[in-house]
Amino acid sequence: MFCLLLLMLPHLGNSVPIVQDERGAKIVGSNEAKEGEWPWQVSLRKNLEDPWKHICGGSLIHPSWILTAAHCVEGDKNDTSKYMIQLRQQNLYKDDHLVPLEKIIIHPNYTNVFEGFDLALLKLQSPVQLTKTIQTITLPEASQIFTPDMECWVTGWGDIAFGVHLPPPYTLRKVQVSLMDALTCDREYHQRSVLSAGRIIFDNMICAGETGKDSCQGDSGGALVCDVQNTWLQAGIVSWGIDCGAPHRPGVYTRVTNFVDWISQHIQ
Ligand SMILES: *[C@@H]1O[C@H](CO)[C@@H](O)[C@H](O)[C@H]1NC(C)=O
Ligand SMILES: *[C@@H]1O[C@H](CO)[C@@H](O)[C@H](O)[C@H]1NC(C)=O
Repeated sequence: MFCLLLLMLPHLGNSVPIVQDERGAKIVGSNEAKEGEWPWQVSLRKNLEDPWKHICGGSLIHPSWILTAAHCVEGDKNDTSKYMIQLRQQNLYKDDHLVPLEKIIIHPNYTNVFEGFDLALLKLQSPVQLTKTIQTITLPEASQIFTPDMECWVTGWGDIAFGVHLPPPYTLRKVQVSLMDALTCDREYHQRSVLSAGRIIFDNMICAGETGKDSCQGDSGGALVCDVQNTWLQAGIVSWGIDCGAPHRPGVYTRVTNFVDWISQHIQ
């Protein structure tokens, strides 16, 4: 089990204390994002040995609310003072304007990433001013179907390969990925696998990516977005994977459509 855990890790930043697996900052198989693209992308910062270090991504879904992964905030879930949000930034840490949190709401059914329910809402102390470069991402209707032919992208400051951190000046990265439904993804995860014969990928997850194109450690909590009739909708939240960009191991995301009712209950 311990060996498995070394490889099966949330796409998290530096708070995972396992040597070769901290998910520092970038996306595999990617290009630099342009200024002004992905205006909902945020960086979740934590006060660690390095003050306000990037640990995860997140998305602005409302002027007062960030959507991220539960595993990003589970360590200090009741201590809002340990976290800050940096809104869309081209280069991580350049001209930071950190925004404090008022509240952290983890999905009540979350226990660990492998069971799903890997999502949390972060309320900002005051609403942000939306601008040309800082915008919210639209959440889908619960009934929205996302299909593999859609154009989907994932963005972040996570690792550029398994164990390889994004180097300075930490420019935001993007990669286009194809979606894969949970059942197909489950079959992939059972290929050449030492994992259980039982279900690995559950219906509240969605997968995306292929060999060499994936999210990685440090991208957790960020948005997987798809172009649906010329509108970007958030289909997933970066959650976990085995390795990054490895064959038969697509990135695993929280399936947002399963949770839009829970989200809207809290942000109303
Ligand atoms: C966090 O807060 C919740 C609700 O306010 C409380 O029930 C729980 O015991 C707290 N957990 C810790 C670790 O302080
Ligand atoms: C959590 O799981 C229980 C049992 O499956 C379910 O009844 C409940 O609705 C879930 N909670 C939320 C907020 O989805």
